[in-house]
Amino acid sequence: MPRIDQLALISETPGELTRRFATVQHQQANELVGGWMRDADMTVSVDAIGNVLGRYEASSPDASAILLGSHLDTVINAGKFDGMLGVLCALACVESLHEAGIRLPFAIEVVGFADEEGVRYQSTYLGSRALCGNLDSSVLARLDKDNIALGDALAMFDSSPAQLPSAKREAHELRAYFEVHIEQGPVLESKGLPVGVVTSIAGATRLNVTLKGSAGHAGTVPMDLRRDALLAAAKCVLCVQEACSGQPGLVGTVGALEVKPGAGNVIPGDVQFSVDIRAALDTDRQRSVERVKNEFSDISLQNNVELSIEQVHEAASIDCDPHLVAGISTAIESQGLPVISLPSGAGHDAAAMASLTKVGMIFVRCAGGVSHNPAESVTTADAKMAAQVLLEAVFELCQAEKA
Ligand code: HGY
Ligand code: MN
Ligand code: MN
Repeated sequence: MPRIDQLALISETPGELTRRFATVQHQQANELVGGWMRDADMTVSVDAIGNVLGRYEASSPDASAILLGSHLDTVINAGKFDGMLGVLCALACVESLHEAGIRLPFAIEVVGFADEEGVRYQSTYLGSRALCGNLDSSVLARLDKDNIALGDALAMFDSSPAQLPSAKREAHELRAYFEVHIEQGPVLESKGLPVGVVTSIAGATRLNVTLKGSAGHAGTVPMDLRRDALLAAAKCVLCVQEACSGQPGLVGTVGALEVKPGAGNVIPGDVQFSVDIRAALDTDRQRSVERVKNEFSDISLQNNVELSIEQVHEAASIDCDPHLVAGISTAIESQGLPVISLPSGAGHDAAAMASLTKVGMIFVRCAGGVSHNPAESVTTADAKMAAQVLLEAVFELCQAEKA
């Protein structure tokens, strides 16, 4: 927990926690975590996308590895547990093995992924996708709000687009990927339980929408002659709400909206906004995405504004590996706790890792289910329980794979 607080101080914005991909603060967090890894007798590296990786060797050299971890990047004005708790629980597991002088039949690797949230370039899972070798190279040309291309931002790690293939790991190198993560929802708290096992991770689609009308004088242009981009955007936000309401597991969010020129006496000429649609079933999500795209088109025609939609992210829903779910359940039972299994509405690096290896996730209770908010909080007891269950799950896997 002191480490959670130390990492939370590494922020682009004093007084709040914002740590985006490939910033100086990202590199500083990598260095801090890398030092802790070294202290646990791990060999440490930072790969070509900026993931920090520590390796705790097995009883025999060149063994395949069990990968544990989560992400070190954050949203804007974030909580201090989202991502970091998973990396630190993984590190705690290796520390306890090291302190006990235990070597397992598999190496244990701990990863702090570089960009799960996708705040800087609206493309999530950059780190885990690069490790899996399926990072879409088109994102490399994407510009951040300061017009820095993603491919150029890699220079922060002395890397470049040409070096990205070196980040790819082969399936035979890994036995599994486990991720501890805060639930970011109210279920565990409502059940009075510290941990639960994750069964699936919802798919997500993210859009960047631009509406172009014409700026004009707020005092002179009659209402029926306006091409008001913000009026059209407001109707679009409402249609996301309607398209994603009333169906369990389907959610839609407009989280970012930018109005230009942004003066009170000027009719908005240009609006850009985000759309984030998630669902447990990919068919539900895809149907809702199509519906809002069609309705945006109708709204733009009715309001005489130009519409452009860029799909900036798409991730299918994934199921966690049933053997790992069973192993985590046994690990939870070994702590004398009832097992609750729950789907994840939030995205996680495990969703990307599923393309390379078996994935399992352990959810940890967080107060009020609050996340993506500085009020995010986890008790020390629950964090300790999560790390204990993670270690037990690793032992379960070692047993199962030796058999
Ligand atoms: O948005 C998400 O689901 C995750 O926090 N990146
Ligand atoms: Mn998050
Ligand atoms: Mn997260």
